[in-house]
Amino acid sequence: MLASLSFLVLLVCHFHGLSHAAVPAAAGGGDGQFIYNGFAGAGLDLDGMAVVDPDGKLMLTNVTSQLKGHAFHPAPLRFHDKAPAPVSTQNRTARSFSTTFVFAIAAEYVTVSGNGLAFFVAPSKNLSAASPSQFLGLFNNKNNGNASNHIFAVELDTILNPEFRDINSNHVGVDVNGLVSVAAKPAGYYADDDTGVFKNLSLYSGDAMQVWVDYDGRATLLNVTLAPAEAAKPRKPLISVAVDLSAVVNDTAYVGLSSSTGPFRTRHYVLGWSFALDGAAPMLDYAKLPRMPRRAVAKRRSRALDVALPVAVPLLALAAVACVSLLAWRRFRYAELREDWEVEFGPHRFAYKDLFRATGGFDDGEHLLGVGGFGRVYKGVLPESGTEVAVKVVSHSHDARQGMRQFVSEVASIGRLRHRNIVQLLGYCRRRGELLLVYDYMPNGSLDRWLHGGRGAPPLSWERRLRAIRGVAAGLLYLHEDWEQVVIHRDVKASNVLLDAEMNARLGDFGLARLYERGAGAQTTHVVGTMGYLAPELARTRRVTPATDVFAFGAFVLEVVCGRRPIERGGGGGDDDDGRLVLLVDRVLELCHAGALADAADARLRGEYPAEEAALVLKLGLLCSHPVPGERPSMRQVVQYLDGDAPLPSPPRSYQSFTALAMMQNEGFDLYAASYPSSSATGTSVGAVSSVLTPKEGD
Ligand SMILES: *[C@@H]1O[C@H](CO)[C@@H](O)[C@H](O)[C@H]1NC(C)=O
Ligand SMILES: *[C@@H]1O[C@H](CO)[C@@H](O)[C@H](O)[C@H]1NC(C)=O
Ligand SMILES: *[C@@H]1O[C@H](CO)[C@@H](O)[C@H](O)[C@H]1NC(C)=O
Ligand SMILES: *[C@@H]1O[C@H](CO)[C@@H](O)[C@H](O)[C@H]1NC(C)=O
Ligand SMILES: *[C@@H]1O[C@H](CO)[C@@H](O)[C@H](O)[C@H]1NC(C)=O
Ligand SMILES: *[C@@H]1O[C@H](CO)[C@@H](O)[C@H](O)[C@H]1NC(C)=O
Ligand SMILES: *[C@@H]1O[C@H](CO)[C@@H](O)[C@H](O)[C@H]1NC(C)=O
Repeated sequence: MLASLSFLVLLVCHFHGLSHAAVPAAAGGGDGQFIYNGFAGAGLDLDGMAVVDPDGKLMLTNVTSQLKGHAFHPAPLRFHDKAPAPVSTQNRTARSFSTTFVFAIAAEYVTVSGNGLAFFVAPSKNLSAASPSQFLGLFNNKNNGNASNHIFAVELDTILNPEFRDINSNHVGVDVNGLVSVAAKPAGYYADDDTGVFKNLSLYSGDAMQVWVDYDGRATLLNVTLAPAEAAKPRKPLISVAVDLSAVVNDTAYVGLSSSTGPFRTRHYVLGWSFALDGAAPMLDYAKLPRMPRRAVAKRRSRALDVALPVAVPLLALAAVACVSLLAWRRFRYAELREDWEVEFGPHRFAYKDLFRATGGFDDGEHLLGVGGFGRVYKGVLPESGTEVAVKVVSHSHDARQGMRQFVSEVASIGRLRHRNIVQLLGYCRRRGELLLVYDYMPNGSLDRWLHGGRGAPPLSWERRLRAIRGVAAGLLYLHEDWEQVVIHRDVKASNVLLDAEMNARLGDFGLARLYERGAGAQTTHVVGTMGYLAPELARTRRVTPATDVFAFGAFVLEVVCGRRPIERGGGGGDDDDGRLVLLVDRVLELCHAGALADAADARLRGEYPAEEAALVLKLGLLCSHPVPGERPSMRQVVQYLDGDAPLPSPPRSYQSFTALAMMQNEGFDLYAASYPSSSATGTSVGAVSSVLTPKEGD
C-alpha cells in the first residue's frame, strides 16, 4: 500500500482589497514575510487534527486515519500589487514569492503512509468542504480541477492515485486548482557537483527534508527544490515550470500547510517554515528547529540505571513470571503463523489480536457479514484508528502452503492497487490453516444482493445498473492495462462487486481463486470460479488470461441488465422448469436473433430505460461472452464502447450458430453442480453453481 504525502502549497487569495498596512508583519518582521523556527507560541491557525506539540513541532496529522489537518499563517497576504487594476485588465501580475519549510513524514509502517502534506495558498481559511485521503484536505471530488477554487499548491505525494495521473508513489507536484499536477517529478534533488547526478529521496522515510518554492511573478516561472534537511539548497531546482498564477491567487490570500491521512496511520510533521513576498524566504535557523525523535535510540547506560538496577532486578523477575503466564495464554489465543519470507511483507501484516478485537472475537452474530465460497466475512472496527473494515477469513488446507507464499506476495502487490472501482485490500494475517484478508468496509453490500435480493427489494434503476457496469469496466481496465503489472481478477461476478457508501461499484476478492488453484498441487490443477462466468477455453487450457476476465465481465453485464443469473435451471422459474440448465447468454442470443434484443432487459425495470442504450449494453455483453477468446474485445475497447467513443462492432457471424451450453460441454466442462454458496459479503447465499475442472485423460 502506498502512502501519499503531499506538501501542497495552496495559495488562496482574497479579493477584499486589504491595504498593505492591514497585513501585519509576521514573526521576523517585514511586509508579507514571516519565519517560524519551530512553532511553539507561533499562533498559527490550526484546524482538524493539526496541533503544535510541546517541542514546537507542527503535527498536521496524528495517527487517526481518514482525517485532515490544516495550519494557516494567521494573517492574509497580498499577492497582487496595490495599484488599482484598470477595469479593462482583470489580470494583474501576481507578486513574486518564496517559501521554504522543513518536514518529516513518520509512517507507522515505513512503506505505507497517510495521504499527503501540502503547502498551499487559498482564498479563505475555511477548507471544511475539502476531503481527506487523496484530496489532501484541499479539494473534493466535486471541485477538483475547477478554476473557481483559486488554490495553488505544491504537493509532496506518497500515494499513486491513477485518477490524478500521479507519476509514482513518491513525487513532488505543482497543483493549480486541482490534484492533476501541472508538473511533477519523483522526489529527489540534483547534486551540486559537476556530475549533477539525480539523487532519490524517500518522502515517507521519516527523515526531515526541506522544500523551497520560488515563484517569479514577472517571468511567471515556478521552481520547487527539495533536499535533505540542513543541506544547502541545491542550485538546480527539481521542478522549474512556467505557470502564471496571476489569475489563480486572489488579491489577498492565506498561506498554509495541509495534510490528510487515508487508511494508514501517519504523522506529518513540519519543523520550521518561512515565507516572503518579493524576495527570498528567510533562511531557517536549523539550530532552533525542533528535532524529530530519533528512530534508533543509541543505548547509553546512564548513572541512574546503575543505581536503579539492583532494585529493579527482583521486581523484573517477578514481572517476568507474570508476563510469561500471560503471554502463554495470549499466545494460545492469538497464535499466528509467521515465516521468514514474510518479513518483506511486514506493512501488510495485521496482528491477529487486532483483528480478533476488531470483530468482537469473530462473532458470528452481529459481526458476521456473510459466508461465501472462500470463507466467512466479518465486519470490524480497528482498535486505535477506528477504521471500519471487512475481514475475510479464508480456510485453506495445508496443501495450500506452496501457493501461500506466492499468494501473500500478491496480496502485497494487490494492496498497492488503488482505484475508485476496486475494494481496497488493506492487508492480511495468517494462522494455521487460516488466512485473514482485511478490506475496506463497503456499507452497501454486494450488487448481487441488489439484483437478486428477492421479493420486496426495490429493483435497481437502469442508471445504477449502467453505472455499476461502467465502474466494473473501469476497474478491470485498471487491473489489466493501467497497473504496473497485469492483474487478472479470475472471479468477476455480481457477488464480487460491492457498493461503497456512494453506490460506486467496486471489484473485490481478486486473486483468491488462484490460492485454490495452486493449492491443489501440480497434478490436479483445478480451475476455480463460478459456473456461467467461466470462459469455455479454460476447460482446455486452464490458463487464465485477460480474455477470461472479459468473458466473465460479459456474463456479468448480461446478468445486470437482465436481472437473471448467468446460469439457471429450466425456464428460470417459469412453466417449463424442467431442471435443464439454461445459460443466460443463449437466452439473450435467441432474442437478438429474433430482433427483440431490448426485451431481454429485466422486467422489473418496467421498460423504464432507453431501449437503444440497453440494446448497446446487451450487445456488448454478447460480444464479451464470445466463445473464441480472440473475438472478445479488450477492456480498453469495452470502456470505449460504453463511453460511445467507438462504435460497437456487430457480433461476428460465427457467433450465430451455437449455443454456449453446447460449447461449454464440448470443451469438457463438467457441470458438477457442487453448490458453492456465493462469496457474497452480505450473507445472501445464492447457491451459484461453481465448477471444478478436472484434467481430461492424457492432458
Ligand atoms: C477570488 O477571486 C475570484 C476572481 O477574482 C473571485 O470570484 C472570488 O470571489 C475571490 N475569492 C475570495 C474568497 O475573495
Ligand atoms: C487525532 O486528532 C483527532 C481530531 O483532533 C482527535 O479526535 C483524535 O483523538 C486524535 N488522535 C490521537 C491519537 O491523538
Ligand atoms: C490577461 O490574461 C490573458 C490570458 O491569460 C492574457 O492574454 C492577457 O495578455 C493578460 N492581460 C494582461 C494585461 O496581462
Ligand atoms: C465553511 O464553509 C462551509 C461550506 O463550504 C460552510 O458550511 C461553513 O459554514 C463555513 N464555515 C465558516 C466558519 O465560515
Ligand atoms: C466550478 O465551480 C462553480 C462554483 O462552485 C460551479 O458553478 C461550476 O459549475 C463549476 N464548474 C465545473 C466545470 O464543475
Ligand atoms: C530512483 O528512483 C527511480 C524511480 O523510483 C528509480 O527508477 C531509480 O532506480 C532510483 N535510483 C536510485 C539511485 O535509487
Ligand atoms: C528557477 O530556476 C531557473 C533554472 O535553474 C533559474 O534560472 C531561475 O532564476 C529560478 N527562478 C527562481 C524564482 O528561483
